[in-house]
Amino acid sequence: MMKVALTYNLKKKDNALPQDYFSECDSQETIDAIVGALGRLGHVVEPLEAERPNLLRYFRSNRVDMVFNIAEGRQSRLRESEVPALLDYLNIPYTGSGSFSLALALNKALTKKILKAENIPTPRFQIFTKGSEKMDPSLAFPLIVKPNCEGSAKGISLSSVVRDQETLFRKIKEVISVYKQPALAEEFIDGKELTVGILENGKTVILPVLEIDFSTCGASGEYFYSWRMKEHQGNKELGLAPTFHCPARLDRQTEARVKEAALRTHHAVGCFDISRTDIRLDKDNIPYVLEINPLPGLDPRESNFPVMAYAAGMTYEELIEAILMSAHKRRKGLN
Ligand SMILES: Nc1ncnc2c1ncn2[C@@H]1O[C@H](COP(=O)(O)OP(=O)(O)OP(=O)(O)O)[C@@H](O)[C@H]1O
Ligand SMILES: [Mg+2]
Repeated sequence: MMKVALTYNLKKKDNALPQDYFSECDSQETIDAIVGALGRLGHVVEPLEAERPNLLRYFRSNRVDMVFNIAEGRQSRLRESEVPALLDYLNIPYTGSGSFSLALALNKALTKKILKAENIPTPRFQIFTKGSEKMDPSLAFPLIVKPNCEGSAKGISLSSVVRDQETLFRKIKEVISVYKQPALAEEFIDGKELTVGILENGKTVILPVLEIDFSTCGASGEYFYSWRMKEHQGNKELGLAPTFHCPARLDRQTEARVKEAALRTHHAVGCFDISRTDIRLDKDNIPYVLEINPLPGLDPRESNFPVMAYAAGMTYEELIEAILMSAHKRRKGLN
């Protein structure tokens, strides 16, 4: 039995803010599910909204054995590493990756530079900080333009895919001005969408690969994991119900390559306990790593990671316990 604090940022509704403002935050259902699972596993759990005064006040007067951290943070370009950095400072153990890996993974271009150095395929790219830079002539259209430091498909829509310079620069300027950060333009990989879960459960386990098939979304015209797709996932009327295949429909060799790319990415970024790597296959079945998520969503019904854990025969409780125990063993120097 452990005393566990669950640190999270709650998703809120505020019509005065942009509609994707809280997208990376967690729903009450996810928080309840983790609290419920930890309780059923016999742990004592304290849910803690990761607002600064709240955390400081709590840790000043309470001791815990472990923090189960799903907080995405709010304020800075390093937002996902804010809570882990504070916990490191206070010498309190927590689940998941450390502050360094979380900050790195939140910066897509920097992560891609590491992937390139490790010879892990990732789409060719260029970063635009002003929008007045010259386009790298070696890049080939179509390109996709994304905010460099966001997740949850924030800022990603059908209009993010551009086919000429004029539209490219219009989109770059829009991303820079709306999201107040550099825009990443990368080659659009037109092939199967896959995501790979890694769970350190005594040993490092690569879960069955999940394929997200958008061919059932013809009614919306959306053909990749856009913000609308994630936000309204499963809504057939809107044409936003992709089909999930887990395990993915891959030949053995491609499956092995995809898993290897994800595992190498997990290690290259220095992740702990859990990660989810997003991959697209090109026409030659080469797996291109788009990004790694060290804090993947844990909604028991909707998030990709639990779907992969279920396909591996785990229950939600077993998934939560695996994350907790991996962090516990790491703290004890056992893995
Ligand atoms: N280079 C690319 N080629 C093809 N599709 C892409 C590319 N980059 C992004 N996409 C599409 O956009 C989606 C979101 O992109 P990405 O995973 O980079 O963003 P994110 O906001 O960090 O995602 P998450 O919601 O997983 O945190 C991808 O899952 C994919 O469908
Ligand atoms: Mg992604």
